[in-house]
Amino acid sequence: MEQGRMEAGESAFAWWQRGIVYEVYPRSFQDSNGDGIGDLNGIRQRLPYLQWLGVDALWIPPVYTSPMADFGYDVSNYCDIEPMFGTLADMDALIADAHERGIRIILDFVPNHTSDQHPWFVQSRSSRDNPYRDWYIWRDAKPDGSPPSNWWAHLGGIAWTLDEPTGQYYLHSFLPQQPDLNWRNPAVLQALKQQLRFWLERGVDGFRMDALMHLYKDDQFRDNPPNPDWLPEKQAEHDQVIPLHTLNLPENLQAVAAMRSLLDEFDDDRMMLGELYLQTKDLVAYYGERGRGVQLPTNSTLILHAFEPAQIKEDIRDYELALPAYAWPNWSFGNHDRPRFATRAGTDHARLGAMLLLTLRGTPIIYYGDELGMTDVPVAPENLQDPFEKRSPGKGLGRDPVRSPMRWDDSEHAGFSTAQPWLPVGDGYQALNVHQAQADPHSLLNLYQRLIELRRTHIALAVGSITLLEAPADIVAYVREHAGQRIAVVLNFSRKARAYSHPLFADTKVLMTTDGMEDQFGNALKLSPLNGAILQLRAAPPIPVLL
Ligand code: NOJ
Repeated sequence: MEQGRMEAGESAFAWWQRGIVYEVYPRSFQDSNGDGIGDLNGIRQRLPYLQWLGVDALWIPPVYTSPMADFGYDVSNYCDIEPMFGTLADMDALIADAHERGIRIILDFVPNHTSDQHPWFVQSRSSRDNPYRDWYIWRDAKPDGSPPSNWWAHLGGIAWTLDEPTGQYYLHSFLPQQPDLNWRNPAVLQALKQQLRFWLERGVDGFRMDALMHLYKDDQFRDNPPNPDWLPEKQAEHDQVIPLHTLNLPENLQAVAAMRSLLDEFDDDRMMLGELYLQTKDLVAYYGERGRGVQLPTNSTLILHAFEPAQIKEDIRDYELALPAYAWPNWSFGNHDRPRFATRAGTDHARLGAMLLLTLRGTPIIYYGDELGMTDVPVAPENLQDPFEKRSPGKGLGRDPVRSPMRWDDSEHAGFSTAQPWLPVGDGYQALNVHQAQADPHSLLNLYQRLIELRRTHIALAVGSITLLEAPADIVAYVREHAGQRIAVVLNFSRKARAYSHPLFADTKVLMTTDGMEDQFGNALKLSPLNGAILQLRAAPPIPVLL
């Protein structure tokens, strides 16, 4: 066997460490029943594509029963499927088919809030002495009649809604249709564990845990301090206060540990991906004591920061330094809430981005369509869907543009649906679609596929250590190493051709480049503009550590 080659099953690393996660936004991936909205059978039909691409796990945003006020993040029954997405039998079939192809299924779980139509909330709001009253967060107005605190909702407006029949306010960190559960009531955890168990027993491989940093709020309901840096024209309303009493409370870690111990009852590596927009120093706490928390607390640096070399080097260095020994890293460029990578970084940076994402140390998380280079698709005002945009108009915060249908081919509606899709497919799909990109050896899609294959077959790329190499300002260079295999990655962010040399590069071989345009001579490499290369190095003397 070639040195460092990875064979299935031989690795000491868990599947979620070796593997690649792919987010499928279910409304927009594939419609199988002609209603213009994607569904579970649609995802199932596209499994051959996902297997060809080489991803190991699908993260599927909520498909549970829901009135769809927030497109599924308002759950009215955690243990059933919303009819527009299919049935429980369809989900069982998807899990079985995906598993047969070696693809795991990670469901999105929403522990912070339910729909206001969930039977728990219907009971809770029915009277002040209903046994479910304390499952949610109810408060009286302040003595002056104003809402209980100055807390703002994350999808626009204040976080309190008055329920007139019972005369109290309930808390909602997102929409009024998404009341927050009261995590200080132990019955809530017990109930949520039952919902999680339902899916674990059905064979799902893990959960993406929604809004984890919101679970606990200050038990004294103190006002949040004002944010002097708020930019009202551009930023959301909730940014006008600093979320001192509403976000990232220490009690969240107990909640995480409790959910993790449930997953560990299933002793076959079920995992949690935690939605957490936190600075690295706070984020790492969610790995839990001795790693008994969330396996992959999402690292949002590449989503939030500029895609430029100095920033990337700083992010890699800071993140790697902050990670405890038991913590496994993860990286992503985007998700269904944030502008697409190719829109933020520019389509001309998509190839460099692909090489970076798929060669960093840690689990890559790909947002569907980014492998094609899809960009944000503008949505006409009369077709707006996202409640965030409707409640915070004109600030460019709406999420519709990043949720446009997947582009499969050049037929009407891009092969996504036979009907008018719920969001526009956008211009240019006739030229940019999976069918066309698969046929073009130089497409971004084929680059993704080859990078994934390279990562899968080279243990240093899949699980190796990372060491940043000293490099000029517009070059990012690092070495990955494991089990005697040593691989270097060099990314040229300049719009000019650049040479880069390093003593380690003598007698090496180029494994892959983003455009096939570089030359290697001796220990130097010449990279064309915005091009990157991966080199197999001789495993020799130790690399001076810069991190
Ligand atoms: C984060 C989800 O990704 C987002 O889409 C949703 O609106 C909020 N959490 C509320 O559940």
